[in-house]
Amino acid sequence: MTTSSFLTSVAIFTLITLHVGALDTFIAAVYEHAVILPNKMEITVSQDDALLLMNKNIDILERAIKQAAEQNARIIVTPEDALYGWEFTRETIFPYLEDIPDPQVNWIPCKDPHRFGRTPVQTRLSCLAKNNSIYVLANIGDKKPCDSHDSACPSNGYYQYNTNVVYDTEGKLVARYHKYHLYHEPQFDVPEKLELVTFNTTFGRFGIFTCFDILFHDPAVTLVKDFHVDTILLPTAWMNVLPLLTAIEFHSAWAMGMGVNLLVANIHHIRKNMTGSGIYAPSSPKVYHYDMETELGKLLFSEVDSHPRVSPADSTTMNWSAYATAIKPFPVQKNTFGGFISQDGFNFTELAEYAGNLTVCQKELCCHLSYKMLKQEENEVYVLGAFTGLHGRRRREYWQVCTMLKCKTTNLTTCGRPVETASTRFEMFSLSGTFGTEYVFPEVLLTKIHLSPGKFEVIKDGRLVNKNGPSGPILTVSLFGRWYTKDSFYKSCGTSNSAVTYLLISTLLMVVTLQNVVMV
Ligand SMILES: *[C@@H]1O[C@H](CO)[C@@H](O)[C@H](O)[C@H]1NC(C)=O
Ligand SMILES: *[C@@H]1O[C@H](CO)[C@@H](O)[C@H](O)[C@H]1NC(C)=O
Ligand SMILES: *[C@@H]1O[C@H](CO)[C@@H](O)[C@H](O)[C@H]1NC(C)=O
Ligand SMILES: *[C@@H]1O[C@H](CO)[C@@H](O)[C@H](O)[C@H]1NC(C)=O
Ligand SMILES: *[C@@H]1O[C@H](CO)[C@@H](O)[C@H](O)[C@H]1NC(C)=O
Ligand SMILES: *[C@@H]1O[C@H](CO)[C@@H](O)[C@H](O)[C@H]1NC(C)=O
Ligand SMILES: *[C@@H]1O[C@H](CO)[C@@H](O)[C@H](O)[C@H]1NC(C)=O
Repeated sequence: MTTSSFLTSVAIFTLITLHVGALDTFIAAVYEHAVILPNKMEITVSQDDALLLMNKNIDILERAIKQAAEQNARIIVTPEDALYGWEFTRETIFPYLEDIPDPQVNWIPCKDPHRFGRTPVQTRLSCLAKNNSIYVLANIGDKKPCDSHDSACPSNGYYQYNTNVVYDTEGKLVARYHKYHLYHEPQFDVPEKLELVTFNTTFGRFGIFTCFDILFHDPAVTLVKDFHVDTILLPTAWMNVLPLLTAIEFHSAWAMGMGVNLLVANIHHIRKNMTGSGIYAPSSPKVYHYDMETELGKLLFSEVDSHPRVSPADSTTMNWSAYATAIKPFPVQKNTFGGFISQDGFNFTELAEYAGNLTVCQKELCCHLSYKMLKQEENEVYVLGAFTGLHGRRRREYWQVCTMLKCKTTNLTTCGRPVETASTRFEMFSLSGTFGTEYVFPEVLLTKIHLSPGKFEVIKDGRLVNKNGPSGPILTVSLFGRWYTKDSFYKSCGTSNSAVTYLLISTLLMVVTLQNVVMV
């Protein structure tokens, strides 16, 4: 055998092994769970009582996991806090926690339940994955003993973490992630180091984080940009906030803006406005669920692409400000007025005619809207709004938002307040803005909190436009931008070791291939 034919065989062999069992698509499942909460949240229960409650919740998850497996789903995501809820102190959550080892220990809890002490929850979850031959993501609590002489070590001698675990089809623990951006969770600690957690499967590369993490650069953006994951798994306990931050609205927009699949499992608890789960592909939501009427959980599943990203050449041509900075601004409206969405001071201008071209600016951000209503409803008023600045009372995250929205009433002082119904449909709309960030998430929310799959798109020059005929009745059309480097506490992860390793490996493979081509 000559060297060249040997290299050819190596190359072919490599190609074959890389593709054995690789799937172009797979069925994904998410479960919106109506969590059974502890009876008395303020008292500390025994470990046995804590386990009793968690097992009641797992009984329900078990039915969903079995059903998902019957539908040939490869993976199922269950929500944040799904085993015990969210109202705890450090003391009252403690009996619910287990020590969760690093996945590197190579552990199948179902086969070896006593290897790491008392771990009944991890064992049961692992068995569910194994018995049903499906990847399972669950959110549980981790406790890690620390040195009480260390000043950072909490007084009970444990760090307590909000944690995602993933078990593969053999029941093996393949991923563990400690939530970084906690949202009013006094029961948990922020991990000392931010974790970037991924795992590989025959149906793509996966990244995981939790709920509020999605609003920040790390780990969310780094997993997509530097670790090139195909699909993000997001357990959440998300309280819907109109008009810009309902779960289905923001999550579908994030998947589109980042160009990845996003599998979201939310808690179902309507008194806290928690509902809204979905399977979102970059081009469009595949399936979603929003239900403020019943108390029921819901299993969703859908087929998605294993590698949904457009080619890198495509994505670099997206420029969110190209159109808006290139055009001559429409005459700036004389009747601009100030208003609020939550705590954020927007500049608004009314869509006074049934059709028109409007510009509204705030500082360096100008938002342009061209629109034509199908019919101007008499009792409905819409405005175009612009906001750029640090968001909310905490003033930590920098937002840039262009939004067209329906006001709560015809009194312009109500613009930006939550409103759930609308009847005005648009023959056309085109929204763009002079964004300073490349991270912009396109949102379209219709009456009664519905998405609008297949009825809008973003053009490479940054315009969000309707397509396939007139729109449904619109609550809001928004470009939600996040300018992470202007956050008041921004810190970047930098290039990690594993990203470097990955680059090296890809380069080596390319060298082998090139050499081969030259020699043949
Ligand atoms: C898994 O299957 C085994 C035997 O088939 C059974 O004993 C066990 O109870 C099952 N566990 C779960 C969590 O389904
Ligand atoms: C997944 O595969 C890539 C290369 O194909 C590798 O660089 C990366 O380290 C793997 N990730 C994990 C968590 O094994
Ligand atoms: C739920 O949403 C409604 C309407 O947006 C709001 O009025 C209410 O305060 C919210 N409830 C909670 C618990 O946040
Ligand atoms: C986007 O387009 C604008 C206007 O053409 C240009 O000034 C800007 O440099 C572009 N931004 C990027 C990141 O290419
Ligand atoms: C627009 O916003 C800026 C910055 O918040 C504010 O100073 C200005 O007064 C606003 N314009 C109007 C017309 O409200
Ligand atoms: C808006 O501007 C476009 C061109 O920029 C023009 O064709 C259209 O007639 C304008 N619409 C209105 C209602 O002014
Ligand atoms: C609009 O609402 C404001 C504040 O609630 C009120 O002061 C004003 O009178 C209202 N305007 C009209 C025209 O009803």
